[in-house]
Amino acid sequence: MAYFLTYTTLFSLFSTFSITIPAAFSQQFAEEIATMRLEKVSHLHFYFHDILSGKNPTAMQIAGPKKGRFGMTMIVDDALTEGREPSSKLLGRAQGLYALTAQQETALLMVMNFAFMEGKYNGSSISVLGRNPVMHAVREMPIVGGSGLFRYARGYALAHTVWFDGKTGDAIVEYNVSVLHF
Ligand SMILES: *[C@@H]1O[C@H](CO)[C@@H](O)[C@H](O)[C@H]1NC(C)=O
Ligand SMILES: *[C@@H]1O[C@H](CO)[C@@H](O)[C@H](O)[C@H]1NC(C)=O
Repeated sequence: MAYFLTYTTLFSLFSTFSITIPAAFSQQFAEEIATMRLEKVSHLHFYFHDILSGKNPTAMQIAGPKKGRFGMTMIVDDALTEGREPSSKLLGRAQGLYALTAQQETALLMVMNFAFMEGKYNGSSISVLGRNPVMHAVREMPIVGGSGLFRYARGYALAHTVWFDGKTGDAIVEYNVSVLHF
């Protein structure tokens, strides 16, 4: 169940101003400037495959202590697919890093770009920077920017782990992303 939906919700920012400088030899009269921007909200749905095991892992540890301990830092180039199955259509890749930054629980700092490769979003990306307490059923992470069709993006992602292998650390995570952009 994959969807890429966009619709116009807001239309904002209308401003006027006037400047009058009382002076003997010059005067400025009111000038009106109107700006109208059309903002859209897009909803994206996909599955994130974090694969640490096998011959072609997409997540690799680059620093910190082994497995599941505070400080563990990974670099990822994870597939984002339309369906839950790894063989499902590739929509993009999650490229960046995550690190275990909580001492009392299993919570990650996520710093990554979701680079899309499908349809009209091919070549566009969104940037995620947030906290991911992976044991929670649903985690919310901010979208702090974007490129291409996602210029000026801001929004949030909701993540839910649909499959996890405790031995290898491999996981499949469902994402719903809501993003405002121009
Ligand atoms: C995405 O864009 C790249 C570069 O323009 C192109 O090579 C590739 O075929 C495109 N992929 C899809 C699925 O349209
Ligand atoms: C994503 O949205 C779908 C459809 O509304 C819903 O069934 C699913 O539970 C949501 N998942 C997350 C992680 O928000």
